[in-house]
Amino acid sequence: MVRAMSEEYANDLQNLVNLFGVDVEVEHRQEDDGFGVSDEFSIKADNFEETFSQSYNLDEKDPLKRKSVKKHRAKRALYDKLSKRFGITLPWGCLTGVRPTKLARELVENGQVKEFLVPEVLEKDYCVSRDKAKLVSMILKNQKCIIRNDKLVDLYINIPVCPTRCLYCSFISSEIGAVKGQIDNYLECLVRELEAVKQVIKDKTYMVRTIYIGGGTPSVLSADQLDFLLSALNFPVDEFTVECGRPDTITEDKLAVLKKHRVTRISVNPQTFCEATLKRIGRPHKNAQVLKAYQMALEKGFVVNMDIIAGLPGEKFGIFKRTIATLLDLYPENITVHTLSVKNGALLKNSGTVLSEKDIAKMVDYAEKTLIERGYKPYYLYRQKNQLGGLENVGYFRDDHVCIFNIDSMEETASVIACGAGAMSKRVFNMENRIEREANPKFLADYIARIDEIIAKKKDFFA
Ligand SMILES: C[S@@+](CC[C@H](N)C(=O)[O-])C[C@H]1O[C@@H](n2cnc3c(N)ncnc32)[C@H](O)[C@@H]1O
Ligand code: SF4
Repeated sequence: MVRAMSEEYANDLQNLVNLFGVDVEVEHRQEDDGFGVSDEFSIKADNFEETFSQSYNLDEKDPLKRKSVKKHRAKRALYDKLSKRFGITLPWGCLTGVRPTKLARELVENGQVKEFLVPEVLEKDYCVSRDKAKLVSMILKNQKCIIRNDKLVDLYINIPVCPTRCLYCSFISSEIGAVKGQIDNYLECLVRELEAVKQVIKDKTYMVRTIYIGGGTPSVLSADQLDFLLSALNFPVDEFTVECGRPDTITEDKLAVLKKHRVTRISVNPQTFCEATLKRIGRPHKNAQVLKAYQMALEKGFVVNMDIIAGLPGEKFGIFKRTIATLLDLYPENITVHTLSVKNGALLKNSGTVLSEKDIAKMVDYAEKTLIERGYKPYYLYRQKNQLGGLENVGYFRDDHVCIFNIDSMEETASVIACGAGAMSKRVFNMENRIEREANPKFLADYIARIDEIIAKKKDFFA
């Protein structure tokens, strides 16, 4: 447990301590007289107790930047101490946030670091491992499609409904059986929100660069419901994604509707090709359904993304290796390799895994090496809380099939107009280096009941 006596870094320090996976109590006190800063730590574990401190001069006057430096210095000091005390190094060093690549890009964009020096700086200043630092550097090179322009926006639509709930998932999403009666009503409200958004886009001369329908599982909707929703989305974009996901929801007639409305990409997510694991994680689809859905998607000419998760309960390296081999036989344009995160909101409270940090790292490293050998390139990365081994999720593409929406949303380089229950809009002010966020209500019933208020707020937010 971390107690921060004078600063609001308790969460960051706590997250760092959690990543070490050790039982330790930390107290932190910080003083800042406007010129110099001093940190005092006291750490207590079963077999030792120690206090230590650091002080340094700090010229930075901007309060936000000053706070960010102080936080980094405190985290770094604690990392060094715990690392030495417990003999543990972490793959991402003292970095605890969701987006290591965003940090690296900002260092380059602000002129603080030359792009070719990114790996060195991550290693030296943040104690990131050499392999992860190189991965970040590769990813930055593959994100050249980023355009910093406040008029260019992405449009996101959320369908927080799934056929059933997978044990590991903590996304807010209802099982279709529980909300069936609300779906038509929900879609009508969603289309109303989209009509309002269209007017804002026109008035403010925004340009929609990509559309992404995510969830949940949007393909849980019927072909008619998809047709109704997609009819409201007549923007001329080159990238239009529908995150289908669960292979057991993908049918020929639904794909025909997506094609009719010029959707360009879909996902067909195996998560693993081990059927015993699928059963264990409450994801009742079969490999044959993945293959069939993929075949239909290929015939219709969609770019396909496939998600897998490393570290699923009961899986060891051999099973994971077979999943990678099958994936590479199929050779989809995009593959996203997730590392299992055991989150509070999930039905799976304990992964039941016997994997050590070394085992999970072996899987994730193997995926990276094998995919890269086969011609895939990493292009976006993010971390979540409680990921096994303190690891990450990485998206790979082959040829020129990056998903611009994935990059924009992870790197926060473009505004996102997000509609539907649980959707989070983001307004990026590039010149001011500032981001504002606005969330819609999370649950369908709330969203439906408050649609007028939601539309008014959305107009205000993007005005
Ligand atoms: C928002 S989910 C939606 C995808 C779709 N509903 C499906 O299940 O195929 C996106 C991806 O996040 C990943 N994911 C979800 N929960 C996770 C967890 N606890 N740990 C690691 N990855 C997770 C899965 O790979 C999933 O495909
Ligand atoms: S993993 Fe996908 S299908 Fe499973 S509960 Fe989460 S969002 Fe729904």
